[in-house]
Amino acid sequence: MKHYLLGLITLISVQGLAQKQDKQIDDKSLAAGREIYLMNCQSCHMEQGEGLEGVYPPLAKSDYLMADKTRAIQQILKGVSGPITVNGLEYNAEMQGFSFSDQELADLLNYIRNSFGNKGGATTIDEVRKARSKP
Ligand code: HEC
Repeated sequence: MKHYLLGLITLISVQGLAQKQDKQIDDKSLAAGREIYLMNCQSCHMEQGEGLEGVYPPLAKSDYLMADKTRAIQQILKGVSGPITVNGLEYNAEMQGFSFSDQELADLLNYIRNSFGNKGGATTIDEVRKARSKP
């Protein structure tokens, strides 16, 4: 019985470790995402993701961004328009869509969802592909 329990505990901790490593985002992806952000997004959402109150919504600690990863990928591709509420403030403007590759989108999502105080975990190429093909 003791051996069985010990074996079980070892198994659980090995699995826990593997899962943790799975979720780790590599520095290369974050650096690539930051480049893409500075080139394409910073002009409106600002360097620290703070946006411009009432005009450009924040990405920093944005409840809206963090609530739905698939929606974020689709909005970056197709653009956003119409009223949205971000951290309790309404924005009603328009953002154009961008044509990024799956890899670029994964890097960008890794960066914006894990910078400016956000903690969103990793985004995989597979998740980007699924979001792209979803209507
Ligand atoms: C020309 C200005 C502009 C640029 C450049 C821009 N955005 Fe936006 N973005 C906006 C506006 C305006 C909205 C809100 C649209 C609305 O009111 O419906 C928005 C909304 C968003 C949202 C959803 C709301 C939120 O704050 O969570 C996300 C996510 C987002 N943008 C990400 C990006 C990313 C990533 C890039 C770069 C690839 C980018 N934006 C580039 C202006 C811009």
